[in-house]
Amino acid sequence: MAAEILDGKKVAQEVRAALKEEVARLKAGGLTPGLAVVLVGEDPASKVYVKQKEKACREIGFASQVHRLPEDTGEERLLRLIHELNADRAVHGILVQLPLPKQLDANRVVQAIDPAKDVDGFHPFNAGRLAAGLPTVVPCTPRGIIHLLDAYGIPIAGRHAVVVGRSNIVGKPLAQLLLGRDATVTVCHSKTDDLAAFTRTADILVAAVGRPRLITRDMVKPGAVVVDVGINRLPEGIVGDVDFKAVREVAHYITPVPGGVGPLTIAMLLKNTLEAALAGRGGGPRGE
Ligand code: GUN
Repeated sequence: MAAEILDGKKVAQEVRAALKEEVARLKAGGLTPGLAVVLVGEDPASKVYVKQKEKACREIGFASQVHRLPEDTGEERLLRLIHELNADRAVHGILVQLPLPKQLDANRVVQAIDPAKDVDGFHPFNAGRLAAGLPTVVPCTPRGIIHLLDAYGIPIAGRHAVVVGRSNIVGKPLAQLLLGRDATVTVCHSKTDDLAAFTRTADILVAAVGRPRLITRDMVKPGAVVVDVGINRLPEGIVGDVDFKAVREVAHYITPVPGGVGPLTIAMLLKNTLEAALAGRGGGPRGE
């Protein structure tokens, strides 16, 4: 029997509807959550993501601002903008879209963001708190993946989760979250020998490497939960890191691309921003 689809679009819509009501209440009380998105350069995928974020903010009623800077922007100029946004009381969340043009050091840029406004959860302060198992801002995509698994009642504790990809954006923070939920976690990456030997043992398999259809049917244990974080732009359209058609025949659950993890990432960005606004007011929950 073909796997059940984990409908990220539907689950994200539910999250957004709930958030929208909360935003309306906060606005009536005089608090409008504000998100500042910074886009440097012309990366086509980044431009699409930023537009999606801008639209989501508008729909939910946030005060959003997008700062588009030219490709040749210097570090000093970008850091100056971040310092201004750090000091702006109407801005509760700051997101610098990655990747940055090569003359800019992403680590330095991320570290310039006030950790309290770091709605990506990429600042070492927040990443460190996550690794230590402390409440913190959780990066949007990993938080979205856990939310999606929970929405379908998929158990995590005691399961073997294999995360393919070790990025600071997805792989590493997701591994921390899965550990925090008592999964047994294996992290694989581009240098892993015999990747299939690991993926075949996964109860929950997450592919987040950006290699089109890397995960084939023979690499998946029958009955596994397969989460595809890949967004690869090919001439024939957007495909994930998983060979969806073939893997769907063996998995129990699978996320489609598009319409799987992506919508949850944006929903969690909204959630993180709302929580940052609440925390800035002197209270409010942090993390999942
Ligand atoms: N580039 C790809 N994903 C992300 C993300 O979640 N946040 C930021 N800032 N950049 C990204």
